[in-house]
Amino acid sequence: MMRFDDLFLKGLDTLAGQGRLRSCRDWRAEGGAFLRQGADGASAVDFSSNDYLGLRTHPLLAERGAEWGRLFGSGSGASRLVTGSMPATRGLENRLAALKGMQAARIFSSGWQANASIVPALASLSRQVTGAPATVLADRLMHASLYQGCAAAGIRPVRFRHNDMEHLRAVLEQAEGPGLRLILTESVFSMDGDRADLETLHALARQYNAFLCVDEAHATGILGAQGKGLVAGRADLVVGTFSKGLGSMGAFVAASDAVCRWLENAASGFVFSTAPSPLVLGAVDAALDLLPGMDNSRAHVAELADLFRQRMTEQGLDVGPSSTQIVPVIVGREQDALALARAVEQAGFLAVAIRPPTVPPGACRLRVVLHAHHTHEQVEALATAIIQASRSLPHD
Ligand SMILES: Cc1ncc(COP(=O)(O)O)c(C=O)c1O
Repeated sequence: MMRFDDLFLKGLDTLAGQGRLRSCRDWRAEGGAFLRQGADGASAVDFSSNDYLGLRTHPLLAERGAEWGRLFGSGSGASRLVTGSMPATRGLENRLAALKGMQAARIFSSGWQANASIVPALASLSRQVTGAPATVLADRLMHASLYQGCAAAGIRPVRFRHNDMEHLRAVLEQAEGPGLRLILTESVFSMDGDRADLETLHALARQYNAFLCVDEAHATGILGAQGKGLVAGRADLVVGTFSKGLGSMGAFVAASDAVCRWLENAASGFVFSTAPSPLVLGAVDAALDLLPGMDNSRAHVAELADLFRQRMTEQGLDVGPSSTQIVPVIVGREQDALALARAVEQAGFLAVAIRPPTVPPGACRLRVVLHAHHTHEQVEALATAIIQASRSLPHD
């Protein structure tokens, strides 16, 4: 055993004792299905990934990725501040800026990395230009990577109640001082599948002179006209990811030219990280070609999500405020969420149980995600499996 392993094993035992020990299971994706590696080779239909449009297995993405790899190499070699930007990267950034109706965009290697580095970059602007720290006003359900950004900036965010615009107004009233006021939120919340009130967020940001940042990870590609997302010009900065509706990996920030130039200088995840591979950027370029023509797929996903919500609510199951392709079935206790996940797996479906710290204690759920390749029959069968399993959960 290595010198420190007993410490790590103790840590793992503690997690196991709390019922929180997790590990990545071995599945292999094929089309819309997952196949389990190993002896039983069982297959399950994917209701868990964020590949909403099924683009990660679209041949055009693989072909364009390979083409860009042949043309530009499989790696970028270094940060773009060192090796410069390929014309193809600039071209892609222009397309991404146009997608979000912004002047400019900058590409990052992941959504996590973008979020974790934009908050410190904006906070350092506040200190340098106003001489005062930024105040961060955060929807309490925002993604862990934005909290990571606050931690990296040494900022304790003022959290407002989820999607509660009156509470946001109240905290903005209190946020005095010369420093930058930043509002952080998502347009679609990853664990609840509900939407932010962008109209009011925009109006409050204008009224209180706050800089509004909206994470569109779960809206880009799948929601809004031509898959452009929901923001439609109502934010100062938008984060989009390539990893979900666009079927690849990586992310971008779209904003004004001045904001993007600041991030190019001050966002640690841009400055100190090798630029994403051309193999990935080619795939993203192809996804952007496909998006405008995918209205039917988006409408199909929305219809399936409505059907699934209806099946759940008519049986008294709680889907929270979901109004998108992400539909939680909220059961409360960890063991109940795990029991539902096991039951749906036995029925041939994959949907994950979500537990603390991802959601608050007592709000455990099965997170169901509808995709373009699902059929009505599959959704009905999944709903039946969940309803049957939920009947055998203990009631108290
Ligand atoms: C709202 C939100 N933002 C950012 C991220 C991180 O994106 P990525 O997976 O590209 O790192 C996620 C992914 O889980 C997310 O749900």
